[in-house]
Amino acid sequence: MSQIATNEKIPNNVDLASDRRLQRALEQWQPSFVKWWVEMGPVGFQAHDVWLRTAISADSDGWAHFDYVKMPDYRWGIFLADPVKDRRIGFGDEMGKPVWQEVPGEHRNALRRLIVTQGDTEPASVEQQRRLGETAPSLYDLRNLFQVNVEEGRHLWAMVYLLHSHFGRDGREEAEALLERRSGDADNPRILGAFNAPMLDWLSFFMFTFFTDRDGKFQLLALAESSFDPLSRTTRFMLTEEAHHMFVGETGVQRIVKRTAEQMKANPGREPRELGLIDLPTVQRYLNYWYSQSLDLFGGEVSSNAAQYFATGLKGRAHEDRYEDHVALEGSYEMTVPKDGKLVEESVSLRNAMNEILRDAYVEDCQRGVDKWNKTIAEAGVDFELRLPSRRFHRHVGLYAGMHFSPDGQPLDEAGWAAKQGDWLPSPADRAFIDELMQEPVLEPGKMANWIAAPNRGIKGKAVEFEYVRRD
Ligand SMILES: [Fe+2]
Ligand SMILES: [Fe+2]
Repeated sequence: MSQIATNEKIPNNVDLASDRRLQRALEQWQPSFVKWWVEMGPVGFQAHDVWLRTAISADSDGWAHFDYVKMPDYRWGIFLADPVKDRRIGFGDEMGKPVWQEVPGEHRNALRRLIVTQGDTEPASVEQQRRLGETAPSLYDLRNLFQVNVEEGRHLWAMVYLLHSHFGRDGREEAEALLERRSGDADNPRILGAFNAPMLDWLSFFMFTFFTDRDGKFQLLALAESSFDPLSRTTRFMLTEEAHHMFVGETGVQRIVKRTAEQMKANPGREPRELGLIDLPTVQRYLNYWYSQSLDLFGGEVSSNAAQYFATGLKGRAHEDRYEDHVALEGSYEMTVPKDGKLVEESVSLRNAMNEILRDAYVEDCQRGVDKWNKTIAEAGVDFELRLPSRRFHRHVGLYAGMHFSPDGQPLDEAGWAAKQGDWLPSPADRAFIDELMQEPVLEPGKMANWIAAPNRGIKGKAVEFEYVRRD
């Protein structure tokens, strides 16, 4: 396993000390990062001790170290998964050749764009979530929020390391710009749509970590296949952290529907909202919103860019080894395409369908979580099923953008959409209700807000009642 340097300014397993220029450049970027964190990171709690996991190495048992730490003192480090010996390009036109340790000149712009786009999502989500501490439903949840936040910060470090070490001056400029864009800013927004959407409540937070962090998982899986080996190794390690973010989302929604369903059963004839609970149709509308926003992040269904990334070996499919044909020059993908107001089936060449193939894997993964939520509702004895809407519903990118579809995927005209939209997406009244419900934080150890069930267990062997965030 690789050498780890944790006593340096920047913990790392990339032997940073041997490259003084790079080390100096990153040490110069570090104060700008901390300044950004203090300005744009979590509001409040920056001086509190938080029970956090810190990556101190990249091997399987050493990477998760738990201790109390004040967030601005978090040891954001640079960790790459260990190299795979004699790793070869696994797909595309260059299949079978050795992977690249340096950026090939002809792929420089495309690779930089991929890295910057990924990197931009990391600080964006921290900015989106910065006010959530003020309304946390428990100390346990507060801690999980901050865990997600510091790790997104580390993911930014991961991408900035690649920019600094492989892209020279342009890379350093891009690293600066990553600290300058702001989520939701009119003049200088974050790059991707979902990362500019406001996130002011915990139902949205849980939906985001379930659906949007899961987009991140699939983008990282596709980049982990990359022929550019440092990118592959970086993203492989990021995936280990990403799993916790999706756990937070999946169990967060599960605890909400559990609480609502159990209380509905215990209080027959009462409206969930009157009981201070989030009614299940509202959960469905938030699901519809964040799922459709996240589907957009995969890009257009038919994409020559995606075909190019695949051909050149920059970005593969998730788990490329599960496919038989890694060249994908033959064969086609059947797609439902809108034409003259109707939906028709069309064959698309496989390489042009790479975004859609990645989206398929994502949808399947989402469905598994929704099935668990439904099982929880059914176990409480309530007859209600959450559903993933059609992937045509409420889309702003790709083939279905600019058109209207019902959650079942049926085309609608403007009037049909306007009449039903409020049933399908969070309305201003829904948002006002959620706001009202989540005004006060619950910060007593072990206590939960009324609208959410306690988790089954605490973090890393600690009790649910453990003081995850210490206020002194
Ligand atoms: Fe991330
Ligand atoms: Fe994440």
